[in-house]
Amino acid sequence: MSENLARQFLIREDVVFLNHGSFGACPRPVFAAYQNWQLELEGQPVEFLGRKLTENMRGPRVALADELGTSSDNIVGLTNATLGLNIVAQSLDLKPGDQILTTDHEYSALEKTWAYVCRKTGAEVVVVSIPLPLTTAEQFTDMLIAGMTERTKVLFLSHITSPTALLFPIEPAITEARRRGIWSVIDGAHTPGHIRLDLDSIGADFYAGNCHKWMMAPKGSAFLYARPELQGLLNPLVISHGWTADSKQPGAKGAFGNSPFIDEIEMQGTRDPSAWLAVTAALDYRRDNDWWDVSAHCQALAQDTARRLADITGLPALSSPEFSAPQMVAMPIPDCDTDWLKIALLEQYSIEIPVFKWQDRCIARVSVQGYNSKGQMDLLIEALSTLLNLNKSADRSA
Ligand SMILES: Cc1ncc(COP(=O)(O)O)c(C=O)c1O
Repeated sequence: MSENLARQFLIREDVVFLNHGSFGACPRPVFAAYQNWQLELEGQPVEFLGRKLTENMRGPRVALADELGTSSDNIVGLTNATLGLNIVAQSLDLKPGDQILTTDHEYSALEKTWAYVCRKTGAEVVVVSIPLPLTTAEQFTDMLIAGMTERTKVLFLSHITSPTALLFPIEPAITEARRRGIWSVIDGAHTPGHIRLDLDSIGADFYAGNCHKWMMAPKGSAFLYARPELQGLLNPLVISHGWTADSKQPGAKGAFGNSPFIDEIEMQGTRDPSAWLAVTAALDYRRDNDWWDVSAHCQALAQDTARRLADITGLPALSSPEFSAPQMVAMPIPDCDTDWLKIALLEQYSIEIPVFKWQDRCIARVSVQGYNSKGQMDLLIEALSTLLNLNKSADRSA
């Protein structure tokens, strides 16, 4: 990671930006490609949205599918993971008494999505508490399997969790769910560009991911994956030109010549698809700049920062290293007023970082992306040590 790399991003220089995880950040060349799409749209809206859209939308789908280890027939572009997961949650045929099995580490907007679905259908959410520290995949899998019953219809899991930044070992639970006829729905909001994904081998029935976080595409770019056999179960949340009356017939085509899955979800009335169209530029940027190597450096720095803070606080990590999200670590901090601390970090040190209470813990969640530096991590450690009155020396680096 270098100054040069930091200059490639639009993040303001007066901010120590340690919260890539919330909304991502887009490199200048990718942002320029995004704006070029917007200029092209504005230059001839009818040609762009009327005649060329179907063809243009295919490019990112093909490039992304290749990156994600699946076929371009199995993914569809949309604006965010929340939308993709809502399409799934609101499509599945759930009845009173059916159960959605999930964990206590899920993202709040999706907890609300399932609560909404339950209110409408009479299904119920069953929450398995995943104790910390997470140290073995077996412990995680066994707890989920113990929660599966005859009534379980859906297994809903984050692949990387938001509050605890854990990389859940989801594959064995997915396999068991499939064996029992339970739909697996995976929230991969944080995974594309963060860990290497092979969607077909993960084996989930449905998987939504964001391109605007760690893949560094512009905001409003995401995908929904569905196994081919199950695509027909899904319904768009908005009915538009892509819908056809016979779309549920075997072998039906969508209105624009793709599958109904793609045409119905991609077409949502008039909108600006430029963020999705710039996904190809994001993939090119990553390849041209060897981004998996950059990621490896970021991972080392993120994990090292967490270890340094743990040395000072004496608080144990939330998991063993293999279950920590590579570039994002939820670091336990001593009990404190987290709202005050977050503002103090921002106002006194210009550090933007999420600090919050989760269950009975206080957490500072640090993200490290290519534009961050070791010096910024030193500043974070110094700031936390000072603000929290941690008495051990803060300048010790591992
Ligand atoms: C685990 C998880 N799921 C879903 C989301 C929602 O992402 P979006 O708002 O882009 O749909 C987030 C956002 O941070 C997240 O952390």
